[in-house]
Amino acid sequence: MILQRNKQSKLRRFRVPPDKIRKGMLVEIPLPWFRHPFWLSRFVVKKDSQIEKIRQLDIPFVFVLVSEPHEKEEVKKEQEILSGKDAQAEKQVQPEELPSIDTSPTNSTSHHLEKEEMSSSAKLYFIRQQKCQKVYEKTINEVKTLLNGLLFFSEESLHDAQNMMKNMVDTLISDPNAMLFLINAKKKQEEVFHHALNTCILSLILARADNLPPEDIFTIGLGALFHDIGKLRVPKSLLLKTHPLTKSEKALLQLHPQFGLEIVSKIASFPEGPKRIIGEHHETLDGKGYPRGLKGDEIRVKTRIVSIVNIYDNLCNPPALEKAMTPYHALAFMYKKLGEKLDRRLVELFIRLLGVYPPGTIVKLSNGSIGIVVSKSSTSPHKPSVMLYNPDVPPSKAPVISLEEETSLDIEQTINPSSLPQEIFAYLNPPLRIAYMVDSLGKE
Ligand SMILES: [Fe+2]
Repeated sequence: MILQRNKQSKLRRFRVPPDKIRKGMLVEIPLPWFRHPFWLSRFVVKKDSQIEKIRQLDIPFVFVLVSEPHEKEEVKKEQEILSGKDAQAEKQVQPEELPSIDTSPTNSTSHHLEKEEMSSSAKLYFIRQQKCQKVYEKTINEVKTLLNGLLFFSEESLHDAQNMMKNMVDTLISDPNAMLFLINAKKKQEEVFHHALNTCILSLILARADNLPPEDIFTIGLGALFHDIGKLRVPKSLLLKTHPLTKSEKALLQLHPQFGLEIVSKIASFPEGPKRIIGEHHETLDGKGYPRGLKGDEIRVKTRIVSIVNIYDNLCNPPALEKAMTPYHALAFMYKKLGEKLDRRLVELFIRLLGVYPPGTIVKLSNGSIGIVVSKSSTSPHKPSVMLYNPDVPPSKAPVISLEEETSLDIEQTINPSSLPQEIFAYLNPPLRIAYMVDSLGKE
C-alpha cells in the first residue's frame, strides 16, 4: 500500500467506507461544502449523530486523516483503520492528494441549507462580534460629541470623557480574557473620530500589556482619545487629500499638535499627562519628529505607546485607500523600517498583542481556503479565528473557524486585499477602515 504525505498538515489520507467511521476520527467529506450538512468539510467525529449523517450522504467513502505515525496514539488509530479485523476497509484504503476546496458558484438551492454542525466557537464569535460592532458604533458617536465639545472648551465634555475612560480602564483591567475584534467601520468623512477611538482602544490594551498602573493607563487612554484634536482646526479637504501634500500644506498639518495644546489649555482642569501626549505624539526617538525634535528619554513611555498606535492606524487607514497597508504589513514595516524612531520593546509587545496575523489580515490556509482574520487567539499568535470565503452561502453565514480548534489547518501566507479577485474581495469585504473594539468595553 502506498501512503502519501501531506507536507503542510503532515497527515495521511485514507478512503474509508461510511460504515467504518468511528468517533474520534478526523474525517473529510469528499463533497462540496454546500452538499453536506456539516459546518466544516473536515472535522473530528464526536457524536453518533454525525456518523449517522455521514451514512445518510450515500457516498462510497469519506477521507480519514491520520497524523504521521510517530506517536503511539496515532499509530493505534492508523492500525485501527488498516487492521486485519477490518478487511473491507483495508481493501478500499487508497492514497489521495488533497483536493482543492470547491469554491465555484452554484445555483443550488442548498444555499439555504442549515449548517447543523456550526461550531460553538463560530456561534460565540458572531455573538461577540455583533456586540462589539454595536458598542463601537455607539462609542464613535460619543467620541464625536466629546471631541466637538472639547473644541468649544467644554468642561462637561472633559468630565464625560474622563468618566468614559475610567469605565474603559476598570473593565479592561478586570477582564483578563477580553478579546480584540475587527469592526466594520465604513462611515466616511469621520476619519478623525474613527482614528481617535481606534488609537484609544489599541493604546489602552498596549498600556495594559506593558503592566502599567491604572492611573497611567487612564492618562494614555485620555491622551490617545484627544491626541489629534488639533486636526479639527485643519481644513477637512487637507486631511482627506489623497495626493501628496505641498510643502505649505505639510507645514500646516504639522501644526496640529500645537493646535491641540492650544485647545485643551483653555480648559483649566485638563490634566497635564494627556496634554503632553497631545503635544508630543509626533516626536520620535531619533529626534527627527515634530514639533520640538525631542530625543530618546525625553519622550516618555506613555507618549511612545500612543505614537506607535497612531502610526499603525495611519498606515492601515490612510486617506488614500489604495495606499493602505494590511495590518500584517503595517507591523512588519514598523518593525523593520521605523526601528530608529520607535521604542523597539513596545513595538515587539504590540506585535505580540495583535498577534502575528492581526484582525483584518487576508490569509490563505494550508487547504487552499481564503479568509479574513477576524479575531486573535488569546493564547496562540499563529492561530487566530478566520472567516472563510465560500460563495455557496451568503457572507452573513460564512463559516468562521478557530485555527486553535482546527488543528489540522495552518496559515500558509498573507494576501494583499488589492490582489484578491473581485468576487472574493466583495465577499470577504475587508473593512475600508481597520478598526478594533474590545469585547468587554461598554454595553450595547
Ligand atoms: Fe497626529
